[in-house]
Amino acid sequence: MIKRKLLERFLPTTPGLRVLDIGCGPAPDRDLMGEVEWTGLELNEKYVRYVERRLRRNDRILLGDVAKVPEFLGEVFDVVLLSGVLHHLTDEQAQGVLENCSPLLDHDGFVLTIDPVRTTGASRLERLLLDADRGNYIRDKTGYDRLVPSSLGRVESSVHHGLGWLPQAQRVSVLRR
Ligand SMILES: C[S@@+](CC[C@H](N)C(=O)[O-])C[C@H]1O[C@@H](n2cnc3c(N)ncnc32)[C@H](O)[C@@H]1O
Repeated sequence: MIKRKLLERFLPTTPGLRVLDIGCGPAPDRDLMGEVEWTGLELNEKYVRYVERRLRRNDRILLGDVAKVPEFLGEVFDVVLLSGVLHHLTDEQAQGVLENCSPLLDHDGFVLTIDPVRTTGASRLERLLLDADRGNYIRDKTGYDRLVPSSLGRVESSVHHGLGWLPQAQRVSVLRR
């Protein structure tokens, strides 16, 4: 529900949009994207094997580490998606991943990140949910903004509340070269 709303809002509907879904996991976001040219990149082989059995025509799933992407992929994309990934990474890891996304963008391409965010007005329930999240690095908006490398200098970031039935604010960023 939350992801559906955010992807509807931030992902262009251009037919044939080339999307690289980094850290796609079992690819729950793929079905929310419509007719894009989807490439998943995932570190965990179990997820890759799972996704392989469900691929649509023209979709691909790659086993690999984004840290090595620019070397082995040799392609560019309209959107590089990091959905629910940054809050699982340390600052150093997240900065490295974002740095590696920059050469993967076509001229008008952008990196789209979506993560839970800590906000000052969060209720007790929301704070409990954030503490229970498996991601150990849920930041406030400034904390996420600090991860952005200079190679992705055009930043639009926003915080979204009330998208699902449980309270969990989401921070979205659109990063361009
Ligand atoms: C919390 S899951 C998010 C999965 C999915 N994007 C979603 O929104 O449900 C984070 C995923 O990122 C993957 N991951 C973490 N670091 C990675 C890296 N350096 N390269 C590729 N995948 C990575 C993990 O294996 C995991 O499947």
